[in-house]
Amino acid sequence: MAKKNVNYISAKESRKISKENRKITKEFEAKRNRKHIPEEEYITKMKNPENCVEFDDVHTYFFTDIGTVKAVDGVSFNVPQGKTVGIVGESGCGKSVTSLSMLQLVQRPQGQTVSGEIRFNSGDECVNVVNAPASKMQELRGNKMAMIFQEPMTALNPVFRVGAQIDEVIKLHRPEMSDEEIKNRTIEMLGMVGIANKEGVYSMYPHELSGGMRQRICIAMALACEPKLIVADEPTTALDVTIQAQILDLLRDLKDRINSSIMLITHDLGVVAEMADYVVVMYAGRVVEKGTAREIFKDPRHPYTIGLMKSKPVVGQKVDELYSIPGSVPNPVNMPDYCYFKDRCDMCMECCNGEFPDEYYISDTHMVRCYRCKEEGERHE
Ligand SMILES: Nc1ncnc2c1ncn2[C@@H]1O[C@H](COP(=O)(O)OP(=O)(O)O)[C@@H](O)[C@H]1O
Ligand SMILES: [Mg+2]
Repeated sequence: MAKKNVNYISAKESRKISKENRKITKEFEAKRNRKHIPEEEYITKMKNPENCVEFDDVHTYFFTDIGTVKAVDGVSFNVPQGKTVGIVGESGCGKSVTSLSMLQLVQRPQGQTVSGEIRFNSGDECVNVVNAPASKMQELRGNKMAMIFQEPMTALNPVFRVGAQIDEVIKLHRPEMSDEEIKNRTIEMLGMVGIANKEGVYSMYPHELSGGMRQRICIAMALACEPKLIVADEPTTALDVTIQAQILDLLRDLKDRINSSIMLITHDLGVVAEMADYVVVMYAGRVVEKGTAREIFKDPRHPYTIGLMKSKPVVGQKVDELYSIPGSVPNPVNMPDYCYFKDRCDMCMECCNGEFPDEYYISDTHMVRCYRCKEEGERHE
């Protein structure tokens, strides 16, 4: 018998779903588009003032015609001030949607952060990004938090000179500066990101620059206002390895200079090993393991993390065939509530058929969501 295609739904069902979706998203949009959103709805307090960001049970869903995509489904982690947190996982596990939720840039109206809090410590105040009005986000984005995207060509406008594009960012957030001061600041930024011919590059168009140079421009733009938080979504994936190393060095150096925090999103464990203080491992919209970089690399517990580590080539170690985790990330539409990884897991046990495992802490910082760690997790408590 042919296997039933689980992704197939009839036109009638689809119409019904889209009608329901419209109702749900309309409600969210109406709430968001109110004229005056009182401050107490979005000004809050950090649980720990040492943190720059606190993700607290965040759910970001896409209401599509084939069903609700739970792209981020209950994610919690912290980004301490001045630290780098690496978020890793295969493609499609919700890393980008997590970072877009941080900046309230999820594709609306179908994409909505439906519950949870993202508390952001801007230095002067603590904002819950999930409920913040558009005007507040405008003020924060670029100024207090900045994003570096994977593909620098799409992040830059091809018809404007790169200098003018950086000028514009500074002008928007520092209206008190004169044109002369702004230009000097832009050139200073170009120097800071390691561009030798600053004045020349200032008046070039994006297409005249190489990929690595364009990414430097994007970094200069992101850092122009010295943000508290830098969200870098696969910043080096489009670049070759030597340029990648240079860009990472640059990020690390700049981070120390302006003492900001970095949320580094990548599928590349090598990058994380080099950069991150803390690691968050995501799988199908959930955090399956998190801890300090040392804990995750020296003592990975979740079979998924162990698989990721095994599939990373190690210099000086000879293997016949590089390991790859069998299967692929499940489609996050209408997911049942059991461990999503169990069908790909070679350490699966009887109890894994039960509901999604709880968070088991095997140290104060090291959390694993796998039944294999249940006993140890409970001992620790
Ligand atoms: N605009 C969108 N509409 C519907 N589904 C989306 C949208 N953007 C992302 N998704 C889904 O959300 C899930 C997570 O995607 P993403 O965060 O981009 O993964 P990655 O970890 O590779 O960055 C994927 O299953 C993807 O198909
Ligand atoms: Mg992505």
